[in-house]
Parts: sequence; structure tokens; C-alpha cells
Amino acid sequence: LNYLEPRTRREILEYLIKGLQRLEYRGYDSAGVAIDDGEKTSIIRQSGKVKMLEDKIWNLENFDFDKSFDIHVGIAHTRWATHGAPSDLNSHPQRSDESNEFAVVHNGIITNYSDIKQFLLKKGYKFESETDTEVIAKLIKHIHDNHPSLSFRELVEQAIQQLEGAFALVLKSTKYPGQCVATRRGSPLLVGIKSKNNLATDYIPVLFSKDSENKMKPDHRPCLTSTIPTTTAGMKRSESTTEFCPLGEDKEVEYFFASDASAVIEHTNRVIFLEDDDVAAISDGNLTIHRLKRTLDDTTGREIITLKMEIQQIMKGNYSSFMQKEIFEQPESVINTMRGRVNFDRETLVLGGIKDYIPEIKRCRRLLLIGCGTSYHSAIATRQILEELTELPVMVELASDFLDRNTPIFRDDVCFFISQSGETADTLMALRYCKMRGALIVGVTNTVGSSICRESHCGVHINAGPEIGVASTKAYTSQFISLVMFALVMCEDKISMQPRRSEIIQGLKALPEQIKEVLKLDEKVYELAGDMYQQKSLLVMGRGYNTATCMEGALKIKELTYLHSEGILSGELKHGPLALVDKAMPVIMVVTRDPVYPKCMNALQQVTARDGQPIIICEKGDRETQKHAFHTLEVPHTVDCLQGILTVIPLQLMSYHIAVLRGCNVDCPRNLAKSVTVE
Ligand code: G6P
Repeated sequence: LNYLEPRTRREILEYLIKGLQRLEYRGYDSAGVAIDDGEKTSIIRQSGKVKMLEDKIWNLENFDFDKSFDIHVGIAHTRWATHGAPSDLNSHPQRSDESNEFAVVHNGIITNYSDIKQFLLKKGYKFESETDTEVIAKLIKHIHDNHPSLSFRELVEQAIQQLEGAFALVLKSTKYPGQCVATRRGSPLLVGIKSKNNLATDYIPVLFSKDSENKMKPDHRPCLTSTIPTTTAGMKRSESTTEFCPLGEDKEVEYFFASDASAVIEHTNRVIFLEDDDVAAISDGNLTIHRLKRTLDDTTGREIITLKMEIQQIMKGNYSSFMQKEIFEQPESVINTMRGRVNFDRETLVLGGIKDYIPEIKRCRRLLLIGCGTSYHSAIATRQILEELTELPVMVELASDFLDRNTPIFRDDVCFFISQSGETADTLMALRYCKMRGALIVGVTNTVGSSICRESHCGVHINAGPEIGVASTKAYTSQFISLVMFALVMCEDKISMQPRRSEIIQGLKALPEQIKEVLKLDEKVYELAGDMYQQKSLLVMGRGYNTATCMEGALKIKELTYLHSEGILSGELKHGPLALVDKAMPVIMVVTRDPVYPKCMNALQQVTARDGQPIIICEKGDRETQKHAFHTLEVPHTVDCLQGILTVIPLQLMSYHIAVLRGCNVDCPRNLAKSVTVE
């Protein structure tokens, strides 16, 4: 939303398209934009990737790209389909009617959309898409037509009271030109603010729509008073009386709403992370944030945060995909995870975000590690060392299954929520479930300001830098290290554990260089991928500290290459999987010199005895193991509990190369999304 300087339609479209490209990793089935067209709004939508929308836009005929606007609201969206297949009509923006009076973009899922749709159908509304989102645009039009004196924000407030499910919404309307309203519940949303001058404040007060006693900081003076319409029969009425100009007199401002900062970072690094049920409205250059109801933990305002993210961090550079770049970034990303936290000389560790809670954590009865996908695997990878160093029982849970089971939670439980994005719906719901039951909530995320960060009592930022590739790579190794660092903090005063602690800290120190060495296997992995990419299936076997490597490696392979792939615990080999093994079945085995080495060798021999031809990921120079291998991938030796970091990287590379050879889109695998903000 631009109040900064006149912009042409071409410039506005360039802004929107660039923003979509930055967000494309979140959704890539279809995309669309809505921009002004004189008094009207033009909506352009296209199934497929953002590039296809871009081509469609630049090829529009009879479209005046040079027309300029002083104030302009444009909205755009890139979709990952939940209701309705990817198609032009199901793309967003969705609209209220043929004249595009209200246009909405939506991230999330409206679970009661069919009830609302039935209601609107009875009122005579005609639907053109199969989406849940279309009901929002039509519901708002319905409310507007019945209560034309309501402001844009009030319309949205009325509408969201009818919605169930998860949403982040941004709306524009021909009835309210130059205004934009955005709101969220369950899905992330931020406001970016770009101003020519320094912002007059770093804080936006929150206004409560249902009561007028807004607590405002003395330096936030009212600059606009609006009269709110009187109650209309059958409608709940908002009662706010005052609006604020957070930016002082500065009206030369450009506002951005986005699901995450990568879409706005090239314009501004000043952002506000909206909370659930915040309704942010921009009108006449003023941003207001309203809430419908007070809740116990409401704060009085939203801080304007200055992000440290750099635009280069979200560019591909010389790599062919974000995933490849992120795999190769791991020597640096693991350093960033440890930076300022581990003192390798004095062998001390400080995790600032949970330091004050360590005494409480030490008193707990058990630790729970909860996550989805790759984040869940990082919990599996570190469970054993956490059990050893904390001497506590550690439960590892998939968030969805944990919720399905209504798992008992005690007040003295400590629950870790591990999530790259900090927004995964199942993980977030599990967090709320545990918080309600009085447990201590620890967030382990890569995204500052994410919902999981904000709703945790304390936590660790893994600091891996933005991860764009849908398949998680560098976040996994950084989550792994973060959890190991936590285990080390927990045993710092246990004398008997000092030799072990010291060994692990020195292991961490050597990791970045060792990761560089593993990455040199790239060429060899590429050659092996050439032998395997036409196969139908691939098994990855191991046990002990490498169990998680097998599960994570198999997940990478299946999500990127669409090959069937299974991570198998070698301890279970005889209980079923061995039946799959023959000369033709590709098998990768992870065999390292840790306490379960003899058992791994046993499994290896069982595989070779059935004519299996395993590729073995083993330690450098381990001739004994290599004798049994068809091919080997040698990684440096490290402490047993860190070995999984080095053994997973060849599998990340393998999945990448097989995917490229099979012609798959590495960054955007079919049917998958980076941040799963729906159940
Ligand atoms: C999706 C992504 C995975 C990720 C998982 C959990 O499935 O494709 O890469 O591991 O969600 O996401 P989170 O952001 O909670 O770590």
C-alpha cells in the first residue's frame, strides 16, 4: 500500500510479482494479483508458477501499464491448494462479485466454509470457484450491503467472527479506495513499514474494538478521530473511538503485508508481527491495529522490530536451486547456530533464550520433543544424547499424533516445540495444548517473530538463516546442534559428565570443517545418483545415533524425487524389511564406529547374504566395513552423538541429484508446502 510517491501500474505489478517470487516457496500451484483499474479493480490469475502469471501480465493487451497512481493498494497471492484444484478460477484473489468490489487473498483454511456458503447461496450469491476463500469475499459484501455505513475494518471484524479455521487475510475494495485491511488467526502475517524519514515510534498501540478505554502510551497522540456508526439490528457493533497515527505526521509511507519477511525485506526491514485476531487497517496513511476482545495475556501494543535479515540471504547466488545452496551453506549455518553460545576454549555454553529457565527445567520429570517432518527427525537424532546428559526420560512426538492421542501432560513437564518456520499448525496446536495444561514451553525455531517463538515461555533460535527450499536441510543440522547444546547446558555442573561434555564440545568445534569435507563427496554422490535415478524404490538402513539419518534421508528422497523410500531401523530388519532385499533393490546403509557398530555389521551381512548390493556411508578409512560394500561414501569421524550430522549430508546430496536427474522441481516438490499452516 503506497503513500510514498506516485507509481505506475508497471511498478506496482513489479513489486507484487517480486514479492510473490520471494514467497513462492510457500505455495506454487497458482498465483494472482488485484490492482486498481480506474474506479474498478483488475484481477489477473493464473494456475502454475508465478512465472506463468508474470508472463500473462506482461502480455496483457489494452492494459495501460504507464498509468500512475498517487495512492495504491495491490494484493497478490501464490497458492498451495487446499480446497479446489489449482486452476485460474480457484486462484486468489477471490472476489465478491463480477465487478470485483471486494478482493481477498487468504493463507489458511476455513473449516466452516460450507455452512457460510449455504447461507450465502440462499441469499442468492453465485460462486465461481471451489475455494473456501471465496466465501470470505462474498460474506464481506453481504455484510457491507446490509450495513453500508460500517468502515472497511469493521466489515472485516464482523466477517472474521463468523470464520472458523486458520487464516491470514488481506483485502482491498473499490468501496474503500486507498485502504487495506489485513487480519490473521493461526496463519502468520506481518506488516512492513517503509518511510522516507525515521519512524516516529517503534510501537503501535492495540485498540480494542469492544471497549473504548484504550491504554495508550503518552507519546502516541491521536491524530484522527472517527465516528463509528451506531448499532445496527442483528449485528454486533464495534465501539472504538479513536485512531492513531503511529508515524507522527509522516504520511510518506509505504506499507506491506506478507506471510513472511522474505517478501518485504528488499523494501524495508521494519516490521510488526501481527498476533491472532489482530485486525490491521490502513487508511489515509495511518495504520491501526484493533482487537475484537481482550484476552488475559494481551499486551498494549505491537512493537516495530528491525530485522537483521539481508536480501542476499534469500537469493540463490550461483546455485541452481535454493536447496542446493542451503545444503552447501551448512558449514556456515552451523557456525551461526553456535555463534556467541559456545566457548570452545573454556568449554562453556550459554543459551540466552532459556538461561533463566534452566533451574526449572532441571527440576522437571520428563522432556517432550514435539515437531513434524524434518523437525521431528531432529528430535529423534538427539533423543539419545539428551537422555544421557540430562538423565531424564525424553519422549519424542509427532505433533499430529500427539494431539490425536490427547496425550497426558503434567505441570512439571518441559515441552520442546521444534519447527523451522515456527508456524506449522500441528506443532502450534500441540504447543497450545501443553501450555493450557501448565507445562513449560520451549520453542526451537528458525524464524524470529514466528507464532511458536511468541507463544513459548523461552526458547532457542537456531539461527540457520532463511530456508527457502521446501525440503529442509540446513535447518535440520542446526536444530540438531541446538538440541545438543541444550543437553550440554543441562549437564554443565555434573562432574562425572565432564569428559563426555568436553569431547562433544570439541566435536562441535570441528564440525564446520568436517561438513566441508563431506560436501566434497558431491561429485561421487552425483555419479551414484546416475546409477539409481531410474529405480522405483530405495531403502536407507541404520540404527542407534544414525536412526534419524535414515528416516531423514528417506524423507528427503521421497519428497524430492517421488521415489518410494523408507528409512529402516536395522534392528527391525529381520521383522519384515529383509523380505524386500534382493540383488535389484537399492539399499543404502549407514555404518559408523559407535557402540552399535557390531549390530550394524550384522545387519550388513544379512543384506549381502541376500545378494543386496549396499552403498555404505561409513567413516573415513574404515577398511573393514568397506570390504562389504558395493560402493562407499566416507565421512570424517566425529563423536558418536554428532555423527548423524555428517552422515545425513550425503543423503541430502543424493536426494538433490536424483531429483534433478528425474527432472523434478527441487525447491518446490509437487503437493508439498514449506510451511504447513493448516491441519
Ligand atoms: C513441511 C516441510 C518440511 C518441514 C515440515 C515441518 O512438511 O516441507 O520441510 O520439515 O513441514 O515444518 P517446520 O517449519 O515446523 O519445521
